Amino acid sequence: MSAALNETSADWEPLVVAFCCNWCSYAGGDLAGTSRMSYPANVKVIRVPCCGRMNPMFVLRAFQRGADGVLVAGCHPGDCHYSTGNYHGRRRLSAFKRLFEFAGFEPERFEVRWISSSEGDKFAEEMETMTAKIKALGPNRKMRDARWQSVTQSK
Ligand code: FES
Repeated sequence: MSAALNETSADWEPLVVAFCCNWCSYAGGDLAGTSRMSYPANVKVIRVPCCGRMNPMFVLRAFQRGADGVLVAGCHPGDCHYSTGNYHGRRRLSAFKRLFEFAGFEPERFEVRWISSSEGDKFAEEMETMTAKIKALGPNRKMRDARWQSVTQSK
């Protein structure tokens, strides 16, 4: 979370948290790695069992803890390992995104993508695109948890 600490400097780098479902997107990230495709080190991947498991609170918590952008990646619709998990996730997260925007946050900071285990190139490309977009938007200051910031700055 060091990206949060040097956000005023010219060499500021965004922190992007990517929640990836175990069965497709995380495997797509693995394929990107084994195929020697590079994507920005700004992306921190968190593996979840399925995007249907995503609670919007995970997203808010990531923002509170210093993320500048959050991406959720799951299996393509119809390909979910738990058959309908990504349909539930898609509905929940699209409602969340509308609420997120309604509450005054930049909706571009939160994205949902479908990446299969054979799409290592797409994984790398999406991570590249998301990082560039967040870099252009600048640091996320609206959702930082002030209590957490005071703890990290005192260290
Ligand atoms: Fe990948 Fe459900 S297992 S979205």
